[in-house]
Amino acid sequence: MKILLVGGTGTIGKRIAWRLQDKHEIITAGTKSGDVQFDMTTIRSIEELFEKIGKVDAIVIAAGGAPMAPVKDLSEEHFYQGFRSKMMGQINLALIGQKFLNSGGSITLTSGILAEDPIHMGAVLSTVNGAVNGFVIGAAGEMFQQGVRINVISPGIVEDSMDAIGGYFPGHNPVPMDKVVNAYIKSIEGIITGQIIKVY
Ligand SMILES: NC(=O)c1ccc[n+]([C@@H]2O[C@H](COP(=O)([O-])OP(=O)(O)OC[C@H]3O[C@@H](n4cnc5c(N)ncnc54)[C@H](OP(=O)(O)O)[C@@H]3O)[C@@H](O)[C@H]2O)c1
Repeated sequence: MKILLVGGTGTIGKRIAWRLQDKHEIITAGTKSGDVQFDMTTIRSIEELFEKIGKVDAIVIAAGGAPMAPVKDLSEEHFYQGFRSKMMGQINLALIGQKFLNSGGSITLTSGILAEDPIHMGAVLSTVNGAVNGFVIGAAGEMFQQGVRINVISPGIVEDSMDAIGGYFPGHNPVPMDKVVNAYIKSIEGIITGQIIKVY
């Protein structure tokens, strides 16, 4: 398969790339890193990315963020930052990318445990993760009719992020990297669609 892996140099993405690279043709993409550069927060940049790489068999996104701040300090702009990046970045990649998928292709997005298991200062991420999950539930049926599968991986905090951000997740169990990567493999190589694949 020819696979576009957005965020393929990141903490989760590079592990996905390592597992897939012997079996598939992987194109990694990021703003500064990867095989191709683009910005998922801009529609024109997403269109240019697909015009450059052409049709693919799978689109995988392990990228997109949202600001963390106490609820008492949150403004509308904090939410719009999360919407532009992790929410609409992924949704726009799916909407534009569906036209660049070969028959039987798949789309795999990333949300996260905060959709249902909150942490201090995580309200924007909880909101955005829930929206990404909702998009997959809402879009999967019609995409299925077009021969496209779509799933979302919802990981808990992953082992490789514990040093950097583990302090924000008291009492959470770090998820082994192999377990997280397996969820992406299931979505890419398997037959499921419309699933929120929780890896906690
Ligand atoms: N790490 C965790 O424990 C964890 C748990 C649950 C959910 N998640 C979610 O999983 C996703 C990946 O997390 P991560 O920890 O692997 O992130 P990460 O280490 O920060 O890596 C982010 C990746 O995305 C790329 N990227 C960032 N902004 C981009 C943009 N605007 N356009 C295109 N590419 C962009 C980066 O490349 P450049 O630097 O070149 O832009 C990098 O390859 C995120 O959505 C995160 O919320 C992570």
